[in-house]
Amino acid sequence: MRSVQFVLGAAVVMAAVAIAGVDQATMDRGAKVYKGYCSTCHQANGQGLSTIYPPLAKSDWLKNTPKEKVIEAVVYGLKGPMTVNGKKYNGVMNPLPSNYKDEDIAAVITYVYNSWGNPGTVVTAADVQKVKAARSKKK
Ligand code: HEC
Repeated sequence: MRSVQFVLGAAVVMAAVAIAGVDQATMDRGAKVYKGYCSTCHQANGQGLSTIYPPLAKSDWLKNTPKEKVIEAVVYGLKGPMTVNGKKYNGVMNPLPSNYKDEDIAAVITYVYNSWGNPGTVVTAADVQKVKAARSKKK
């Protein structure tokens, strides 16, 4: 009986690690940036606010948008009409203040991707740098 419980316990722990797939330090760093900045608009659990701030929790936009575009939206801002989970929004998200480091940007987007029923992608500082480099070439 004991060994059955042990095997079950180990299976649960392994499943949790497999689902997360992100180290705790990144999640903690992302949570800190999220709480200090993003949650003002998108709310503590990513639920969004009325018709002004779209939800990040289970967001179909997040799920269906390539991560490069998501990085670009967070770093450089986003505006104009969009539909998230069947609801229409037409607001403005300002560019992220430049005091946030690439590691902060990577961590907060990873945190969002791995919270509230979202698909669980990982974004690295190198991904952020790639998007910034591509953007500066366009100008
Ligand atoms: C001052 C308010 C504000 C802050 C702070 C803010 N956002 Fe937004 N965000 C918005 C608005 C408004 C939109 C919708 C823009 C539009 O209508 O085109 C949006 C859209 C988004 C979207 C795409 C739509 C969706 O719901 O999936 C993502 C992803 C997103 N924000 C992530 C973030 C992250 C991550 C942060 C923190 C780094 C952040 N936002 C901080 C206001 C904000």
